[in-house]
Amino acid sequence: MENQLYYGDNLRVLREYIKDESVDLIYLDPPFNSKADYNVLFREPTGEPSQAQIVAFEDTWHWTEETERAYQKIMETAPPQVVNMMKAFREFLERNDMLAYLTMMCIRLLELKRVLKPTGSIYLHCNPTASHYLKVLMDAVFDHKNFRNEIVWCYRGGGVPKKDFARKHDIILRYTKSNNYYFNVDAVRIPYSEESQQRLRYKARAFREKRVYESYEPNPLGKHPEDWWVMQPIMPSDKERLGYPTQKPEALLERIILASSREGDVVLDPFCGCGTTIAVAHRLNRKWIGIDITHLAINLIKWRLKTTFNLSAGKDYKVIGEPVDLSGARELASQDRFQFQWWALSLVDARPYADKKRGADKGIDGVVYFYADKDKLGKAIVQVKSGKVSVKDVRELLSVVEREKAQMGIFITLEKPTKQMLEEASKAGFYSCNITGRQFPKLQVITIEELLSGKRPDVPYQISPYKQAPREDIISTRQNSLL
Ligand SMILES: C[S@@+](CC[C@H](N)C(=O)[O-])C[C@H]1O[C@@H](n2cnc3c(N)ncnc32)[C@H](O)[C@@H]1O
Repeated sequence: MENQLYYGDNLRVLREYIKDESVDLIYLDPPFNSKADYNVLFREPTGEPSQAQIVAFEDTWHWTEETERAYQKIMETAPPQVVNMMKAFREFLERNDMLAYLTMMCIRLLELKRVLKPTGSIYLHCNPTASHYLKVLMDAVFDHKNFRNEIVWCYRGGGVPKKDFARKHDIILRYTKSNNYYFNVDAVRIPYSEESQQRLRYKARAFREKRVYESYEPNPLGKHPEDWWVMQPIMPSDKERLGYPTQKPEALLERIILASSREGDVVLDPFCGCGTTIAVAHRLNRKWIGIDITHLAINLIKWRLKTTFNLSAGKDYKVIGEPVDLSGARELASQDRFQFQWWALSLVDARPYADKKRGADKGIDGVVYFYADKDKLGKAIVQVKSGKVSVKDVRELLSVVEREKAQMGIFITLEKPTKQMLEEASKAGFYSCNITGRQFPKLQVITIEELLSGKRPDVPYQISPYKQAPREDIISTRQNSLL
């Protein structure tokens, strides 16, 4: 099997592409129903926090027509224990946001069960907002007999509420598909604490001196980990941090993947975010499948795989679901304007600018940074248009370039530009770049069709929009557990 990265809704991807009983391990970290928006934090090339804090995904669930359809589908097709449990939830919760969330989870968990091998394991990452309901749901879908652990991931840091204990743990529900499953504790043993080492030494001496009958020999590979794990979450200064909200630490995934899969096994993450599961699975020689509905996440994963392992999309792994031709691009633009824009920006390696969902964009959709002089950065303002375009748009971009004191402007259009537009762009003249000693057209108009056929805007040495992911050869093995 080739490694696969899917851009799209996991329900559709699972149904259309993932075969029955083809996956050994599933880790899923879905949005939690915390009623929050999650912003991707971009940084200016200078290291300053950037204005571009984009809502990558929202996790507020509402009862919509789609949820009603999913609920009906569960009623018609799910096994009786799942139907009864969902009916009970509906009676108790009525049609509220929590029921919408559970319905959306239920229909996906049924698909995940289908694709899991009989010897496979599933780890569902959630938090106390919904973990109690999700455990009941998992019992119904996977059977309570296949419940293995409720792992409590504890951490420190961040804010504390005034009148409650600080909420500093997540829950990871571990189930298997049957009771014939793979689990390798030796791959994840952790060091004994100084205290337990002392206790073991004392007990061994007591045994030698025949004061007790049982000896407690420490395992040379370390201690069997408990179901509570103390690991630090990704901190702002962390080398691993890529700026994607809710990014999980690699150490957490490392423990899950090592314990519940072998080399060559297939690991699936249907809510893969910035690709933590994928990066760790790849490093540990597992095959992987990642799915995410946000194009920012897909692009970040591609970047992570390139900078960490030197993997190229299309060559070293498959990318499915991104537009590959004009009609695909048109379809994406008609479904979701923002996703289209993020996808178009990714084609020119621009960082998205500001948050259009929340406020005015001042005529800037993205920015491309480049080296203009020895210690000076230059920037090109990017605008993306999916509708009708005219010469007015080119003039407008030119005025934004001037207002922002940018060196260049890039106009990306889905529709063909008019002759007038191209003439207006060429009238803008050239930008002379000292570092390359060359002139670059100040205002460039480029179509999606041209971008899809490999053409790129002519820009001096460009700076990547993302933070460099730590390279594979400098990732040390982490012993992140504290006893
Ligand atoms: C909590 S984040 C996962 C973070 C990830 N574990 C990491 O380390 O980066 C949840 C992800 O689920 C994605 N998502 C939400 N609904 C989805 C759906 N229906 N299909 C696929 N992905 C979805 C969001 O775009 C988001 O990236």
